[in-house]
Amino acid sequence: MKLAGKTAIITGGAMGIGRVLAEGLAAEGANIVIADRAGATEAAAEMAAAGHAALGIACDVSSEQDTAGMAAASLEKFGAIDVLVNNAGIYSSLTPQPFDEQTADEWRTILDVNVIGTFLCCKAVAAQMRAQGGGRIINLSSGTPFKGVPYLLHYVASKGAINAITKSLAKELGGDGILVNGIAPGFTLSDGVMANPVQLEKLQEISLRARTLQRDQLPSDLVGAAVYFASADSAFVTGQTLVVDGGAYFH
Ligand code: NAI
Repeated sequence: MKLAGKTAIITGGAMGIGRVLAEGLAAEGANIVIADRAGATEAAAEMAAAGHAALGIACDVSSEQDTAGMAAASLEKFGAIDVLVNNAGIYSSLTPQPFDEQTADEWRTILDVNVIGTFLCCKAVAAQMRAQGGGRIINLSSGTPFKGVPYLLHYVASKGAINAITKSLAKELGGDGILVNGIAPGFTLSDGVMANPVQLEKLQEISLRARTLQRDQLPSDLVGAAVYFASADSAFVTGQTLVVDGGAYFH
């Protein structure tokens, strides 16, 4: 039980990678707050039925009012915020397309959720983490900005920004004992991806072939990294992004 008594907020935790990370952190004893724009209450109820301490909050991470409410509700329920997992993001609904067929509106929507949403969630929890003498922020990045993956330029740009945020925020918050790290998954068979036949057709086989470890990547492959960054095991690690992709990209 590496996270006994800790409280972790997982944005986008109602389904997909976020849901599996929520269950992984709960299995280590953490109280879980699922903040999602859809299905948060239902997901938290399922986790509670499985014996975990869980709260669901309807929250669109791109709304400052919602992210402030997320932090307040977490505090009210559990009295602390020890871990924030910035997982909510627009990815699984995207179709690869040349950059010059993308629109500025599509870019703004993706940056609004993936980048500004991460910023707002960090902002919402920072004061409480400072008051507690520390905390953990874990940002979901992607292998794509490391590799320079084509045809998803808006998305790749958003995750490149996440890598930059992880480093700069780690410097800014290190003095407060708040550690900021990232996890960069490869193509993962999340709920959202499994519901998008175009992504599966275009990316599943090619991603598998590019890996050192020749199998599909599952959300459960990311749990170990999340527990590590949330727990005392990583007490002297900050500003790092760990690529978890079965050995497709080495850095
Ligand atoms: P998914 O589509 O299966 O689930 C995303 C969850 O986020 C959903 O519950 C959705 O309701 C929620 N969400 C979306 N926008 C939101 C918003 N504005 N506010 C609050 N909640 C919101 O996604 P998946 O595949 O599990 O991805 C999770 C994260 O992992 C994303 O940040 C994604 O970019 C990242 N990632 C995913 C990879 C993959 O291959 N599935 C690879 C690399 C990174």
